[in-house]
Amino acid sequence: MLGPDQPVILQLLEITPALDALKGVVMELDDCAFPLLAGTVQTDDANVAFKDTDYALLVGSRPRGPGMERKDLLEANAAIFSVQGKALNDHASRDVKVLVVGNPANTNSLIAQRNAPDLDPRNFTAMTRLDHNRAMAQLAQKTGKHINDVDGLCIWGNHSATQYPDIHRATVAGQAAMDLVDMDWYENDFIPTVQQRGAAIIEARGASSAASAANAAIDHMHDWALGSDGIVSMGVYSDGSYGIDEGLIYSFPVRCSGGDWQIEQGIEIGDFSRGKMDATAAELGEERDAVAHLLP
Ligand code: LMR
Repeated sequence: MLGPDQPVILQLLEITPALDALKGVVMELDDCAFPLLAGTVQTDDANVAFKDTDYALLVGSRPRGPGMERKDLLEANAAIFSVQGKALNDHASRDVKVLVVGNPANTNSLIAQRNAPDLDPRNFTAMTRLDHNRAMAQLAQKTGKHINDVDGLCIWGNHSATQYPDIHRATVAGQAAMDLVDMDWYENDFIPTVQQRGAAIIEARGASSAASAANAAIDHMHDWALGSDGIVSMGVYSDGSYGIDEGLIYSFPVRCSGGDWQIEQGIEIGDFSRGKMDATAAELGEERDAVAHLLP
């Protein structure tokens, strides 16, 4: 995640009833004899877990089961992420890079960010790299090309069924993606497939995506720390770009370099995209309003 020669100390936070299981995980980490593992900390106290943290991966949330909607989980998860935001504020490195994976990821990230007033809001992000990778895979399969041939697509908005996977500027082996597929496939197959992929995995596995989500978290942090190869998608603090409400954690096309991210500017937005970008922004606004009482 941080390159081939960066040792890490893993500070692992669990809920109290799962501390025994965490002990087992640490035993396995020991047994992997990882050359870059410089130490582990096991704790059920966020204030200990986030002490001097440089990279915080907030993976734990109340998981969604079959048939559950993400919104049902807003309240339960909001309680978790306000505590973690405060602990980050009080104990983490001032440059900490925070990635929220646990759903509803964008709003959980917003809650953590608002509970950390002493940290730069740009330090708080949410994971839409999984959606980005899913979109790349679908486009590669449709066009009969390899994933390495796909470039320039992005995810706008919420990590939810309202997200907008946008291929208007994407290329496949150098050709414009929109010239290779028809609008009907794009609108009625590709977009819903990417939007519903998380639910489809839950249906198939009886549990949320695990390996692909972990892989996307590694991609996200790797690129943020070490730089991205072109455009990637990250849920980041909106500065009002593209008319998205300032302060929402919204997925934009970004480029990363020098340990920072920048929203790609100057993209022309047509009516089709505008409608979809606004719909997913509206959902994020509703989520924000639903947890307003937990936002300082
Ligand atoms: C996914 O996209 O695979 C997950 O976020 C789905 C979920 O709700 O756990």
